[in-house]
Amino acid sequence: MSSLTVLGCMWGDEGKAKIVDFLGANADVVARFQGGANAGHTIVLEGNKYVFHTVPSGILYPKTKCVIGAGTVIDPYGLRGEMRALMKQGIDFGGRMFIDVRAGLVLPLHKELDGSTEEELGASKIGTTGKGIGPAYSDQAARCGLRFGDLGHPDWLKQRLASLYAYHDLEPRDLTCELKELAEVWEFLKPFAAQADELLRNCYLAGESILFEGAQGTLLDLTYGTYPYVTSSNTTTGGASIGIGFPPRWLDKTIGVYKAYVTRVGEGPFPTEIFDETAEQIRAMGNEFGATTGRPRRIGWFDAVAAKYTASLNGLDALALTLLDVLSGLPELKICTGYWLDGNKLPGYTPHPLILERLEPEYLSLPGWDADLGKIRSLHRLPKTAKEYLEAVQDLVEVPIELVSVGKDRTQTIVVKR
Ligand code: IMP
Repeated sequence: MSSLTVLGCMWGDEGKAKIVDFLGANADVVARFQGGANAGHTIVLEGNKYVFHTVPSGILYPKTKCVIGAGTVIDPYGLRGEMRALMKQGIDFGGRMFIDVRAGLVLPLHKELDGSTEEELGASKIGTTGKGIGPAYSDQAARCGLRFGDLGHPDWLKQRLASLYAYHDLEPRDLTCELKELAEVWEFLKPFAAQADELLRNCYLAGESILFEGAQGTLLDLTYGTYPYVTSSNTTTGGASIGIGFPPRWLDKTIGVYKAYVTRVGEGPFPTEIFDETAEQIRAMGNEFGATTGRPRRIGWFDAVAAKYTASLNGLDALALTLLDVLSGLPELKICTGYWLDGNKLPGYTPHPLILERLEPEYLSLPGWDADLGKIRSLHRLPKTAKEYLEAVQDLVEVPIELVSVGKDRTQTIVVKR
């Protein structure tokens, strides 16, 4: 029996999909437990490109079961489109894709509400992905939201949908037409509807290995992230338990994914952000543009203070460090080792955005390397300075590095043997 949770541990886009794909070879089940189509990633396999927003990437392994848990929010039309595109690429979902009937629904109304927030919130805008995630989760908390299983009960659905519009003080454009469209999308998704929590617990008890695939990152966690500049779900280890209905004591191992540097999309504090030519170089080399929105990602140095906080919060057993290859060619690398505010060193990470915006990072400076790392498959073949960089990261975060990614491909991964 085993379960492994893979989490992004900064502001998302840490390369989780690549790590999940790499580790997925050993998993019987891959499960998503939070978030929705705000996540976005591409996996390149034997020259073919596969795009994922809601479907767990484990679907690329032909026998792996895939679960979309109750803690997620699903755009049924988007999900149908994503599944159809993957089907066209030869992916077979039959008998191995399970969507929890309790997952929240993201409806066109939620996307409209999400799109208008920038104007409404003015200067304090969050810069969401515009996928309706916040409004859909808010409706779940307000108990006026619809859930995936509601699609199978037409009379109840009609009543719930009418109350949802009333709750938002909106006139439905055409309720009959919307119900017809929802009935059509249900016809497509119905075969995958399940009580996924029970299924997953039974898999665990039957000795199958389960991989929980986190979306976004710990610093975007609704409760523990850089609130209010966060997403609307719990992206931390505990989120896996709640979002899938899986007992916390069965969460056996957690791997935290970090980039070798840091990126952020959307608004919010970012203590180690850089704006110079180095940032441009990293953005270009790492193709740092949002997979869901295409926005250029903000770039910064590795922040060991924030990383230590997220490692501790998630109880990480190991780190996976991604995109190390992107740092090749930079003469000097920096790692943030402390936060200073008004002449005083802070004891560690601090959650308030006003403090995070004002503080001065303290940096450790390290020499870079020139070699192309893309073909390296073992730790001892890395340039000395790259190994020193990895050592500094794991010493500062106080968690051992288990995987290092040096390129997009599944094979471009170094397993650190101890
Ligand atoms: P929302 O999740 O669309 O509500 O957006 C809230 C914040 O989380 C915004 O700053 C987004 O840019 C950020 N965000 C949401 N999903 C992701 C992701 O998958 N990667 C990186 N940032 C994300």
